[in-house]
Amino acid sequence: MNMIVAADKNWGIGRDGGLLTHLPGDLKYFKERTLGKVVVMGRKTLESLPGGRPLPGRTNIVLTANPFFEKEGCIVVRSMDQLREECAKYEPENVMLIGGAMVYNMLMEECDSLFITKIYEEFDADAFIKNADELEDYKVVWASEMQEENGIKYQFLEYKREK
Ligand SMILES: NC(=O)c1ccc[n+]([C@@H]2O[C@H](COP(=O)([O-])OP(=O)(O)OC[C@H]3O[C@@H](n4cnc5c(N)ncnc54)[C@H](OP(=O)(O)O)[C@@H]3O)[C@@H](O)[C@H]2O)c1
Repeated sequence: MNMIVAADKNWGIGRDGGLLTHLPGDLKYFKERTLGKVVVMGRKTLESLPGGRPLPGRTNIVLTANPFFEKEGCIVVRSMDQLREECAKYEPENVMLIGGAMVYNMLMEECDSLFITKIYEEFDADAFIKNADELEDYKVVWASEMQEENGIKYQFLEYKREK
């Protein structure tokens, strides 16, 4: 499994159930990295997507503890065990963890690659992930050129687990 996230200087990733900022270049990158793959998300992240609908062109797996939750176009799993069982059906490199904070923080260290869009700004976030620079065993193996949109600088990074 790999994960993809956009995080600010403080590793903030969201506020009030939404993203911290609008970066069209990052949305394009997210689409390129996830299209045709399996995306795994928490129920709150599903609700934050346009219309609360699954992402087209991808197999959507949604984690919830709610026994009654169903969503058209989504595979719903109701525990971490069920999630692992479902993910095992696919090639690990085709499974992308897409959030949110709760799900990232549970599964981050099970991911082989972390595709992190590092936003060089500080936002007033209420959702955070762990500091990837402090994770043992992960190293930055690729960094894009610096990007800039609406005066906000950011960069695409790939962290890879060494062992
Ligand atoms: N910057 C980025 O790249 C990025 C990406 C994605 C999301 N986000 C942001 O992250 C924030 C949402 O994150 P979040 O942490 O609030 O929510 P989340 O991780 O998307 O979803 C949390 C929900 O997942 C379910 N869940 C989690 N652990 C579970 C378990 N062990 N068993 C069963 N169900 C479980 C629960 O659903 P139920 O309550 O239904 O039981 C829980 O409420 C938003 O602000 C969003 O915009 C940012």
